[in-house]
Amino acid sequence: MNKSSIQAATLFALLLGAASTVQADNTTSDQGDFARGARAWADNCMRCHNARYPTEFPDRLWKPIVYHMRIRGGLTGQETRDILKYLQESN
Ligand code: HEC
Repeated sequence: MNKSSIQAATLFALLLGAASTVQADNTTSDQGDFARGARAWADNCMRCHNARYPTEFPDRLWKPIVYHMRIRGGLTGQETRDILKYLQESN
């Protein structure tokens, strides 16, 4: 193998590794769980300010709000999906 084919093989292996990581993540996560979301909301969303209740904003605004608050609060992707599900379904 010359140097560039070794580099290509290394790159390919890295890509394969990344692809399987993404896949593993997809199989363990789901679209969001209402009960888990309600708990995560109570645990996280009043840490920095008073609680914002599900009825305070229309469904279509909750998505950008929760994604913004995900970054503020350092929430995981799963917590974010769960909280979004809880907020939109109790609205
Ligand atoms: C780490 C602190 C922190 C956490 C945790 C947090 N927020 Fe916020 N939130 C803020 C700050 C700071 C603002 C002010 C606006 C900004 O960030 O641009 C804000 C603004 C908001 C707003 C904007 C409108 C308003 O009423 O002022 C909403 C709605 C909101 N947060 C909801 C939530 C929800 C839902 C969660 C849980 C997923 C959450 N927040 C978690 C810090 C936080």
